[in-house]
Amino acid sequence: MSHEVVEKNIGLMALLILLVISVAGLVEIVPLFFLKSTTEPVEGLKPYTALQLEGRDIYIREGCYLCHSQMIRPFRAETERYGHYSVAGEFVYDHPFQWGSKRTGPDLARVGGRYSDDWHRVHLTNPRDVVPESNMPSFPWLSENVLDGQLTPRKLKVMRILGVPYSDADIAGATAAVEGKTELDALIDYLQNLGTVISSRR
Ligand code: HEC
Repeated sequence: MSHEVVEKNIGLMALLILLVISVAGLVEIVPLFFLKSTTEPVEGLKPYTALQLEGRDIYIREGCYLCHSQMIRPFRAETERYGHYSVAGEFVYDHPFQWGSKRTGPDLARVGGRYSDDWHRVHLTNPRDVVPESNMPSFPWLSENVLDGQLTPRKLKVMRILGVPYSDADIAGATAAVEGKTELDALIDYLQNLGTVISSRR
């Protein structure tokens, strides 16, 4: 009888559906904000340097995340290929994180240290020079664009508001830290740091 009332009143039904979904959502999502494993950095995790942070912005600007994920799933096939699976505490300084799920190219969560800086230099400028069958786009402008660093201190400041522990000295020195560097230098510095805090891999 009361079920009939709900079925015949679309407004009431919509309201009740909303209620059920939001309760279910809250029960799943709210505890995550308080779990230590998702809010505490893993041991040894450092905030990105000013140059790495600039590199990360270039990663986002160029849409690298459209083809690359940064999250190794806890499955054998993944860990054999990429190394230790990703853990939440590795990403607490990532705003926003770059986990993704689209893998036209390999996962990059632990690409840090896998190749030399020179390899990345050649690969990003023209991937086919080192991986002949690659269909990754070339990014030749990265080595030509020099960072001016004017906004870098403000980027660090915003990260600090979001909880990344940058010191006043980090912020004051941010422009000088990226001065004269190219976008390619910054991107490579960022890539070489990815995933390196958990070293027991492969
Ligand atoms: C259209 C898809 C696509 C985009 C966009 C793309 N890549 Fe790739 N990437 C690939 C593919 C496919 C490979 C595998 C072949 C190769 O190594 O070139 C790859 C390989 C790589 C590798 C080597 C990974 C490994 O473990 O061997 C790195 C590093 C990399 N990409 C970085 C980047 C960065 C940084 C950007 C953004 C500037 C980017 N990619 C944009 C498709 C893409």
